[in-house]
Amino acid sequence: MQRLLTGIQSSGALHIGNYFGALKPFVDMYEKYESFLMVADYHALTTLREPETLRANIRNTVRDYVACGVDQKKAVIFQQSRISAHTELTWILNCLLTMPFLELAHAYKDKEARGIETNVGLFDYPVLMASDILLYDTNVVPVGADQKQHIEYTREIAAKFNAAYGATFIEPKEQILRDVAVVPGTDGKKMSKSYGNTIPLFGAKDEITKAVMSIVTDSSGESPTNVYNIHQLFKGGDELAALYKANKGNYKASKEALIEDIEAFIAPKREYRSHISDADVDAILKDGSEKARAIAETKMADVRQKIGVAF
Ligand code: AMP
Ligand code: TRP
Repeated sequence: MQRLLTGIQSSGALHIGNYFGALKPFVDMYEKYESFLMVADYHALTTLREPETLRANIRNTVRDYVACGVDQKKAVIFQQSRISAHTELTWILNCLLTMPFLELAHAYKDKEARGIETNVGLFDYPVLMASDILLYDTNVVPVGADQKQHIEYTREIAAKFNAAYGATFIEPKEQILRDVAVVPGTDGKKMSKSYGNTIPLFGAKDEITKAVMSIVTDSSGESPTNVYNIHQLFKGGDELAALYKANKGNYKASKEALIEDIEAFIAPKREYRSHISDADVDAILKDGSEKARAIAETKMADVRQKIGVAF
């Protein structure tokens, strides 16, 4: 059976871009694979320095996974930081890579270009992500389009290690669904926590209302493109076209319809999510992390032998 793995950083509340770009594709396909779903808490540490916020985010990310339909009996749900093999392998891979190789990474280049101070962790982010994937002999990684370069890095890093020490790692493929590769935010640009243009997936109805009402519209009097582009995630083609035809020129009506459709979609999941206790989450993470650790440790034993630190 092929292996599927993805992760989301526990850096804040999940938005509908995370859901349609990464989580839904995972949920739609995970039962056909041996599947792993990770909370990338050490990736979140590159931007988050508030311990209580990080702790809460880790639990909430697990709640989001379960409420979106991931069954812990059918997927290994685990916390990255509990498995020290991830950081250990990162160090080993670091010693094979050059600075210029990592300087080409978009995530780092973009932050530099925007004048945001970058830490070494952020620079090394793609290598930690490669470790996440390679430790589990992952074949397929469902992600949004913004992660494509990271999967390319992962393949190159696997190939470099294999060339140096012999066949060890599988080169994974990304799975990017064309229609949801880049979910737009309220300003029409890519929806992203760092741009402040998100619609929270599990927000209360008034938060969703506020976000939808803030969607930027032009004043051409036709259909509001930014509203339509988000709406098509929730409603099928013909029905949606008819709705926007009927609402032509009336942006408010289209936004209200979008709020209703988001609400109809999320309300049952939100209700289910509200019953997932901290104890439930802790049990899921304990069990999943033990399973993940066993696999990761087997891989590390091979790696330590190959690089020459084990006797
Ligand atoms: P992050 O919040 O950066 O950890 O992203 C988690 C996952 O959501 C990754 O697979 C991203 O590619 C995906 N993702 C984030 N924002 C978007 C977006 N606006 N459209 C599509 N996918 C996204
Ligand atoms: N970098 C990913 C993101 O920001 C999150 C992530 C960390 C990830 N490790 C991963 C995704 C491994 C897939 C596989 O979206």
